[in-house]
Amino acid sequence: MRVSGSPFKRGLLTATALMLGIVSASPALADGEMKLEKPKPLVAQTPPMGWNSWNHFNCNIDEAKVRGAADAMASSGMKAAGYQYIIIDDCWQTSRDGDGNIVADSAKFPSGIKALADYIHGKGLKFGIYSDAGLKTCGGRPASRGHEFQDAKTYARWGVDYLKYDWCSTGSDDAKADYTVMAMALRDSGRDIVFSMCEWGTAKPWLWAADVGHLWRTTGDISDAWVKNEKSKAWEHGMLDILDQQVGLESFAGPGHWNDPDMLEVGNGGMTTTEYAAHFSLWAMLAAPLIAGNDLSVMTKDTHDILTNPDVIAIDQDALGVEGHRAVKDGDFETWVRPLAGGDRAVILLNRSAAAHHMAVDWATLNMAASEKADVKDLWSKAVTKAVKGSFGADVPSHGVVMIRVTPKA
Ligand code: GLA
Repeated sequence: MRVSGSPFKRGLLTATALMLGIVSASPALADGEMKLEKPKPLVAQTPPMGWNSWNHFNCNIDEAKVRGAADAMASSGMKAAGYQYIIIDDCWQTSRDGDGNIVADSAKFPSGIKALADYIHGKGLKFGIYSDAGLKTCGGRPASRGHEFQDAKTYARWGVDYLKYDWCSTGSDDAKADYTVMAMALRDSGRDIVFSMCEWGTAKPWLWAADVGHLWRTTGDISDAWVKNEKSKAWEHGMLDILDQQVGLESFAGPGHWNDPDMLEVGNGGMTTTEYAAHFSLWAMLAAPLIAGNDLSVMTKDTHDILTNPDVIAIDQDALGVEGHRAVKDGDFETWVRPLAGGDRAVILLNRSAAAHHMAVDWATLNMAASEKADVKDLWSKAVTKAVKGSFGADVPSHGVVMIRVTPKA
């Protein structure tokens, strides 16, 4: 793997590697090459599903909230629906000790991170944590630059199963080089850890990250809004703004390497139930990680039913691992299609307009002959229409979707 940063940067990486005693394992470092010698762990073969503290709690987190999320995931039906990871985002860390070890905020996490990981594992769930490739995290906490191998060892000791690795305060760093260093460190840690790269798409990680990590953010942060509005922060995008930025990236995703259009906002209050159902459907179409970002301990029934819809989750987790694409765009009316294992197709009719609209998908759009018969299941109403030929039409609510699974009949 070529490190394309400046000679200075490559020298720095070589020096870091030398200090860490990994140079002998990477002879190619001498001429600026950096090789990931150990294979990427075979985790996240389908898009990871879990919960992350950021979208609801931001920096305001503590161990009670994280335990509460684990309790709710285990008891609400989310775990049974496939959710696994409980991920603490930014602001759990305060400093480094005299030996350079990362120190958790003892007021917010008095039992320590290892005890929290044990608690989460005790519920049959997995545990994720957050750091950043720069000097400081986006929340201004100590990040991993120069401590990558030490931090990875600490995470392994704590029982971390998933690392989200952010990109704040990295200056003019080369993203591929920095993420490769942490990938090496994780693979050296002795534990299989999902590597979630949060580089915001700036250096086009879809072009180079499939061997480095398991998923990569493709955009800046999501906002709890249908489209960006006055409440969104400068670096945030509305849900549909993010959707638009996924067009053309679909070929880069596959089992073990996913585009990440950011975490879910379902249940956080900024969109209607219809809009949240569209958000969840579209993320499943995109083979996106399904990382809930609401307060799981106080979910409404609507939120619960969206997050646990088994038919939509089955699309997201489909074994073929082919990301869906936008097949038709006609102003505010779009058709998205995803081929599935076994020959089924998932289809979304998306209505971005302010009024309900009748929409239809032609079999030609699904690479099917007009005469071919198929059963069609509406994945939200659960209605099944048998032996449909030629096309399927439905009334699509304003700011909503109809999502169907098309099963061709022999
Ligand atoms: C960045 C990331 C977010 C979140 C925050 C934490 O903005 O993109 O997902 O992790 O940092 O500070």
